[in-house]
Amino acid sequence: MLTQPISGMKPGTSGLRKKVTDFQRPHYLANFVQSIFNAVRPADGFAGKTLVLGGDGRFFNAEAAQLILKMAAANGFARVLVGQGAILSTPAASCVIRRHGAFGGIILSASHNPGGPEGDFGIKFNAANGGPAPEAMTEAMYAASQTLTEYHVLEAPDVDLTRLGPTALGAMTVEVISPVDDYVALMASLFDFPALRALFAGGFRLRFDAMHAVTGPYARAIFEEALGAPAGTVMNGTPLPDFGGHHPDPNLVHAHELLALMMGPDAPDLGAASDGDGDRNLIIGRGIFISPSDSLAMLAANAHLAPAYAQGISGIARSMPTSGAADRVAAALGVPVYETPTGWKFFGNLLDAGRVTICGEESAGTGSHHVREKDGIWAVLLWLSILARRGQSVQQIAQEHWFTYGRNYYTRHDYEEIDAAAAAQLMAGLRARLPALPGATVAGRLVATADDFSYLDPVDGSQSKQQGLRVVLADGSRIVYRLSGTGTAGATLRVYIEQYEPDAARLDLPVQEALAPLIAAAESLADIRALTGRTEPSVIT
Ligand code: G6P
Ligand code: ZN
Repeated sequence: MLTQPISGMKPGTSGLRKKVTDFQRPHYLANFVQSIFNAVRPADGFAGKTLVLGGDGRFFNAEAAQLILKMAAANGFARVLVGQGAILSTPAASCVIRRHGAFGGIILSASHNPGGPEGDFGIKFNAANGGPAPEAMTEAMYAASQTLTEYHVLEAPDVDLTRLGPTALGAMTVEVISPVDDYVALMASLFDFPALRALFAGGFRLRFDAMHAVTGPYARAIFEEALGAPAGTVMNGTPLPDFGGHHPDPNLVHAHELLALMMGPDAPDLGAASDGDGDRNLIIGRGIFISPSDSLAMLAANAHLAPAYAQGISGIARSMPTSGAADRVAAALGVPVYETPTGWKFFGNLLDAGRVTICGEESAGTGSHHVREKDGIWAVLLWLSILARRGQSVQQIAQEHWFTYGRNYYTRHDYEEIDAAAAAQLMAGLRARLPALPGATVAGRLVATADDFSYLDPVDGSQSKQQGLRVVLADGSRIVYRLSGTGTAGATLRVYIEQYEPDAARLDLPVQEALAPLIAAAESLADIRALTGRTEPSVIT
């Protein structure tokens, strides 16, 4: 089919993410899928190769899957493994790619962004290691999209994706697989399911909010069926194409129902949630929210309590804006810690090289070397394993952790959908002022260093520049500024604020209060109010 390049097909932090209405434009999806194939095609083509396909079930998922199947057939793939109903969570897709030795996979998702006809859609490619395409590969896709003149699609009726098993599509085989089986088997191999069954049999109460997104079937199969938690443990467990009209983002704003439950008199022992495609997680204990940065540190410190990590961990990686809490654990364990740019793809090389076992990001992602994506349900299972072995509450575990390592008070202030030009101006202005900042005073403290984070991948030597502006104070406190790479409208400014507190008497302060002077300084340093017209952030996490 002849076509022409369509502008703006540049994959962001996690694939190409646009409004559904963009993807519905003539040739839009086909152009991008062909650009992926052109960018990743080996010299000898796709003959004999297997592609994995699935998505988070959002609006347009089913139509997109049908087109991609016909394009995979016309592009010469031997086989596509597709989740029943075109469903696969992001971590499950990563698991399936690895288990079946696939060439790679296409995941249909806009993660935690809203869905429905007016919402967002997205498409990303994961490589043979199960991880998100590295930057060089996404650059090649973008380049391919700009010179595209034709795409290949087989003329054929739609494939019935409701029935498990193989169907021929031209010369290619479409194999409809259970979206949950491989994933459940992997989890059962990492964790002590009998011990977790005993935990639930003993009356432990979990509430898992699937937010009407993809994890509902996975959570039911694992928590309620395999581990025997009572029915109703999984809430909002039926996936809906528009996520019930909600934002499937497991943060304190969008998971407010769960938060209210966990802060109330009848709170269960553990509250957790995952996002649209199942890779993020939110952890709340009875009366206490565990920030993702702290969760990473606490999981790393206790991972040896689960069978898969009983031999210890080889290292920890975290994205640059993630707090330094995990660094203190790494130091205590005597293992290295790596600081990477935002985006799970940057962990892939470190995991493949065996340099790290556990990774995490402030954006509610934690995972390990078991797949090459962050994994929401895995994080809940590791928390459950720790709670089972230590026999303590989430609160006790957090408090003991802070007592041992000190506490990294941490918050993120988001200014969503601000004018893109104003956001660019704010970042450029601040970037220009960075060299003059060391030695200046901010929030009553001296600025030690100020830079624009750039990353040299220690495994493949690739370099990624302009990954966030950092202002580090003499006492180790930090303010980080970054523009989101996942939005679809305007720009989103993220301001990350962190302060380390070693004093045992000051470990239980309200976070926003503890950080108030730094928050005010962050605002004035970047002139946020004047440049964006916003007097306050739209989301605080
Ligand atoms: C996605 C990626 C994460 C990343 C996050 C950052 O969820 O999978 O690895 O941390 O986006 O989003 P942002 O909007 O801050 O670019
Ligand atoms: Zn996600």
